[in-house]
Amino acid sequence: MLALEALHKRYGDVVALDGASLAAHRGRILGFLGPNGAGKTTAMRSVFGLVSLDDGTTAWDGEPISPASRLRFGYMPEQRGLYPKMRVADQITWLGRLRGMAVSDASEAARHWLGRLGLANRLDDRVEHLSHGNQQRAQLAASLVHDPELLVLDEPFSGLDPMGADAMADILRDRAESGAAVVFSSHQLDVVEDLCDDVAVIADGRIVLDGTIEGVRASAPKRRLEVAFADPTIIWTPPIAAEPSRNGRGVQAWLIPADADPGALLEDAGGRGRVTQFTFSPPALSEIFREAVQ
Ligand SMILES: Nc1ncnc2c1ncn2[C@@H]1O[C@H](COP(=O)(O)OP(=O)(O)O)[C@@H](O)[C@H]1O
Ligand SMILES: [Mg+2]
Repeated sequence: MLALEALHKRYGDVVALDGASLAAHRGRILGFLGPNGAGKTTAMRSVFGLVSLDDGTTAWDGEPISPASRLRFGYMPEQRGLYPKMRVADQITWLGRLRGMAVSDASEAARHWLGRLGLANRLDDRVEHLSHGNQQRAQLAASLVHDPELLVLDEPFSGLDPMGADAMADILRDRAESGAAVVFSSHQLDVVEDLCDDVAVIADGRIVLDGTIEGVRASAPKRRLEVAFADPTIIWTPPIAAEPSRNGRGVQAWLIPADADPGALLEDAGGRGRVTQFTFSPPALSEIFREAVQ
């Protein structure tokens, strides 16, 4: 387990981390969310000793994180860090060597991951000749080459096309299923909702919400209510405190208190006209996120 405890980091007057604590478990994927500037990158860099913390601890399996434990971690930084002039396969092999792999194993693993990421025919190209999306794939291969126990990825989905995003999601799921702890930051809340087991939301350097995706949704103080009528011109308003929410074509939607009685609401709506759709469900992660960081 990765345990970050009460991290504090200040840059001059800017408080980047203000007591943030976070845990990531083997076999699970943690989505790390927060507005720009909330402290995600700083927290992730602290795992790799790239931030000198003012206070707080970072531990893996109960031991303080050391340079030796970092050899078993994989990191995809926000500022992608491959050498532009080096050839793709050589570079990934070399990074595997740096983490203690034998040259033949590193070379084989580099080819395996680059192949899996669709770069099999780019092995001898220089990194600088790859497109942005392909550089991102190579960077992912670099973080995976040594089969890490902990994988930390800073906005791995940014700039990927839908196929690239699917490949990324498959690999993260696959790494978690083979027992790694996976943490990634993202602004793509739909991706996080579909892919992650756990979620942590940071705002102003503090964790404002965390738990399993289902737990966070189920314990939200609001529910999402959606109603559609056979006659689409009917406008109905729930007879309780309700804030209109984004909705699809022909569907009226609100956020309402979680303890509202759906039966009574359906009856009230039925009094206005024939109801063809009625949904009372936990809010989407995106709605919970907006409330949490307000
Ligand atoms: N090296 C640095 N020097 C000065 N300020 C920094 C540095 N790194 C981060 N910050 C500031 O710390 C805050 C948190 O940044 P960051 O961790 O990058 O947030 P996020 O990744 O969530 O967008 C921001 O206000 C950012 O400007
Ligand atoms: Mg960042």
